Amino acid sequence: MCGIIGYVGDKDAVPVIIDGLKKLEYRGYDSAGIAVYGKNGFDIVKQKGRLVVLEERLSSLMRENKPLSGHLGIGHTRWATHGEPSDINSHPHTGSKNRIAVVHNGIIENYKQIKERLENRGVTFVSQTDSEVIAQLAEHYYSGDIIDTVIKVSNALEGSYALGVMCIDEPDLLVAIKKDNPLIIGKSNHGNFIASDVPAVLKHTNQVYYLNDREVAVLHEKDIQFFNTDREPLQKKAETITWSMDSAEKDGYPHFMLKEIMEQPKVLRDTIQSAVTDGENRKVLDNIDIIRFDKIMITACGSAYNAGVVAKYVFEKLCRISVEVELASEFRYKDAVINEKTLVILVSQSGETADTIAAMREAKSKSAPTLAIVNVVGSAIAKEADYCIFTAAGPEIAVATTKAFSAQLILLYILAIRFARRLGKIQPEEEQKQIEEIKSLPDKVSEILDRIGSIQMYASTCIGYKSIFFIGRNIDYAIALEGSLKLKEISYIHSEAYAGGELKHGTISLVEENTLVVALSNYYYLYNKIMSNAEQVISRGAKVLLIGNCPKVDQESGKFYHIVLPQVSEIFSPSLSVIALQLFSYYVAANKGLDIDKPRNLAKSVTVE
Ligand code: M6R
Repeated sequence: MCGIIGYVGDKDAVPVIIDGLKKLEYRGYDSAGIAVYGKNGFDIVKQKGRLVVLEERLSSLMRENKPLSGHLGIGHTRWATHGEPSDINSHPHTGSKNRIAVVHNGIIENYKQIKERLENRGVTFVSQTDSEVIAQLAEHYYSGDIIDTVIKVSNALEGSYALGVMCIDEPDLLVAIKKDNPLIIGKSNHGNFIASDVPAVLKHTNQVYYLNDREVAVLHEKDIQFFNTDREPLQKKAETITWSMDSAEKDGYPHFMLKEIMEQPKVLRDTIQSAVTDGENRKVLDNIDIIRFDKIMITACGSAYNAGVVAKYVFEKLCRISVEVELASEFRYKDAVINEKTLVILVSQSGETADTIAAMREAKSKSAPTLAIVNVVGSAIAKEADYCIFTAAGPEIAVATTKAFSAQLILLYILAIRFARRLGKIQPEEEQKQIEEIKSLPDKVSEILDRIGSIQMYASTCIGYKSIFFIGRNIDYAIALEGSLKLKEISYIHSEAYAGGELKHGTISLVEENTLVVALSNYYYLYNKIMSNAEQVISRGAKVLLIGNCPKVDQESGKFYHIVLPQVSEIFSPSLSVIALQLFSYYVAANKGLDIDKPRNLAKSVTVE
């Protein structure tokens, strides 16, 4: 939930690190800090607040003729877990003797025991964080060899960590290690990097190594060495990142979220291409023998879970196979009834979500084969799952997912169609017809994006609502879940999604004047039902926003507003509904003037439980 970066090279580390932190700020943004190896040892500045507060502090130091500068440094942007956001709890942390400085992403589960042990030996702690124990323990162990020290510290830690470590006796050396949290190593012609994610280094290099758990990276300006924890050298191959810096820039849009919404036609085309022609995804799909399974279990968190709920309807309809969808945070502890005949599908943009990783390991421990749908190459889930297919969304920076969600849906559809064919539930002609329809989706998404102005205008009238409910039936209900999540996470308006038929079993008592109900309607045979739900809430004072390709309603009364979507088969309609829902949420939040890309209390990758 935090972002870390480190640099050793011939450039001044300060601007390099600050620039990298900007690309990592999506991971956490309640405080930030930097340490460089300066003329007189470590110089550290850390501040509560957004990165911009740290930048202001660095500028004022410059004005006071006390600029921070050095060729070796580490930086951190934080999402607080242990200890409130404050200057003192911000990273980097040092040991009491100021000999070792550390940035940490993760959670140290045994920090209390370590802290107590060190306190009994006279060490004084200054912060409330779990991370400080790493620096203090490192100083406790240190006797001249920082690499051995990092290995010893790693052996003593329980929990998850990606660490960047500097030592006062090593002005040219950066050491890194990780367990259960991501860390990449970047190799450039002016120096070397560690970082939580590729965008942080992409301006300098497209050559990265993905560090595996408990591998140690030792970086100098001109070389990088890797070791295992027995200090045996490891040979690792650098991978070339094929996407460019543009993906990590706003490109003239006011927010990453809007940019990412607008990118969806291309993302869908690329994802479809990789799965239906001869791309890597296609090869993986061809290798999965669906016939051996009698059940599918989909597990994920947040929006990825919502994609799973949509998929359940699609799989059951096309494949006539039983599908369960479980929140990963529940699945991991519920002793699920799964075995080698269950295909467990994990969906995750980041591939690093702690609960989804745990769910995957739980599935494996019960011999259930795992198939992951992931966006981030080299992520933990991508590496550990038995099969992995990738969404071609490129880096997604906004905390609220849009393009990765749409790409997940597409892969789930294609998976369902391929499985249905393999199971003999559809004939080759039907399979081809469905694939052709999938291929038509990007253009239909573009059609909706071309009408952005009308959604923007309508959304601007909705900022005063205290509560907004989302309803739908069948697959429209599944996508209503995503509409509601999107709205609440970025606009801070209370919102819930319900199956249309469920409203009258309790929730309708919350409907009054100044309530908006968003009704999804893409099912002709359920049209009358959802419309009678709409009438029920209107007669209790609510306004209704209708989204779907059902017959156009009379908007004269002012009680309805209809965003009409292009025609598409019902099972694929979520791919179109979600575009309207994303734009609606985005413009409600934008009209409220909120920090859309970094909503309060959230972070992009939830790598803690
Ligand atoms: O990286 P993941 O897809 O595993 O993340 C899962 C959720 O944390 C994520 O979808 C979250 O709900 C988003 N902020 C929703 O926009």
